[in-house]
Amino acid sequence: MPVNVSQHPLVAHKLAILRDKRTEPKKFRELVRELTWLLGYEAMADLATAPEEIETPLEPMTAARLEPRVGLIPILRAGLGMVDAMLELLPTAEVWHIGLYRDERTLKPVEYYNKLPDAATVQVCLVLDPMLATGGSAAATIDILKQWGAARVKQVSLIAAPEGVATLTSAHPDVDIHVAALDSHLNERGYIVPGLGDAGDRQFGTFAGPASVPGRGSDDETAEVVRRLQRNLDEAARP
Ligand code: PRP
Ligand code: URA
Repeated sequence: MPVNVSQHPLVAHKLAILRDKRTEPKKFRELVRELTWLLGYEAMADLATAPEEIETPLEPMTAARLEPRVGLIPILRAGLGMVDAMLELLPTAEVWHIGLYRDERTLKPVEYYNKLPDAATVQVCLVLDPMLATGGSAAATIDILKQWGAARVKQVSLIAAPEGVATLTSAHPDVDIHVAALDSHLNERGYIVPGLGDAGDRQFGTFAGPASVPGRGSDDETAEVVRRLQRNLDEAARP
């Protein structure tokens, strides 16, 4: 399933401000919300509708109502900033939180919160996370959702790296990916370049000092994980 990169000029404009390191958390949160609204509109363009008989003040007519029950699945914590915009588009959506953080050394996702009930309560799941970097967090979340019984899953992110798209499409080829931009590559610490830095820290103002600068320092183990992802990507691109 190819990645859908928004071509909308408003998306490009807002993303430029979002990426800018001078953009403060308040403005950053507003932009995450506005971009999610625009991407959500595009991501839901193919949702099924069912005919419904209604009466306008003038006459009866056959109108269209959204058919599937939709679940929003924000990946904690950065995905939280995308929920309100999606709920504005779809006020009846259910919100199911999944808590994962990425181990900064292995870049593997670590699950810490999941309160999904036994069986799926929605037909379409929209996974919300601003960053699709190695793709590990998204792939793990979608594993959980498929085990839960979700029939259809879409990933909505603001920025993706090619390495993350490759990981996700190979693990879950049936999942549509909607992004505002597909960036160049991951750096040695697994951050998207040029990217926007740490989406959670920039939304919530939790920048923890020089050690957490996304471009700074690297660890051999982390760098090897990134190189392996990049080799996989190169091999997949070879004819
Ligand atoms: C970030 C981001 C994704 C993940 C992406 O979250 O919001 O969940 O990293 O990386 P991946 O594609 O390589 O898995 P992080 O783990 O920093 O947690 P946070 O949202 O709590 O800051
Ligand atoms: N998580 C982020 O917040 N940013 C990245 O570039 C990669 C992972």
